[in-house]
Amino acid sequence: MDKTVSKEGHPNLEPLDEILTLIPNPGSNRLIPILQEIQKSYGYLQPGVLMELSKRTGISASRIYGVATFYEQFHLEPHGRHTIKCCRGTACHVKGGPNIIDTVRRALDIEPGQTTEDMQFTFETVACLGTCFLAPVMMIDNDYYGHLAAHKIEHILESYK
Ligand code: FES
Repeated sequence: MDKTVSKEGHPNLEPLDEILTLIPNPGSNRLIPILQEIQKSYGYLQPGVLMELSKRTGISASRIYGVATFYEQFHLEPHGRHTIKCCRGTACHVKGGPNIIDTVRRALDIEPGQTTEDMQFTFETVACLGTCFLAPVMMIDNDYYGHLAAHKIEHILESYK
């Protein structure tokens, strides 16, 4: 059972209480660490929790959402335990990137932007991973897989399960 949601379907606010107790003077200048802690506890930035955060701290909802949507580290939707990023940039494209993307898509049976039902993986494609010399490249969490071949993908995904 999801401990971050109450029986009535409302967010469980206990983790938020704890976070606001641990972070002194939780104002605008502490927003990033607060959001990081919320995401760690809840798995993602639940809208109900963000509204409550706004109420309790006086930080406006638009400021909270502005920060939450600006930084790639924050997720406003449920997110898998592992994040897979496949590069769709030019260098990767010419070295077989589309085949890599297609292989991941078929192995997990999800489209880019989606999360597997078991919440193990969220699959994303990105414009460039900044390691074009490794093309084609895939990243899982903080690990890079360069000069990647499609036949290696299943084995790599298995090692994260
Ligand atoms: S184009 Fe793929 S890492 Fe840059």
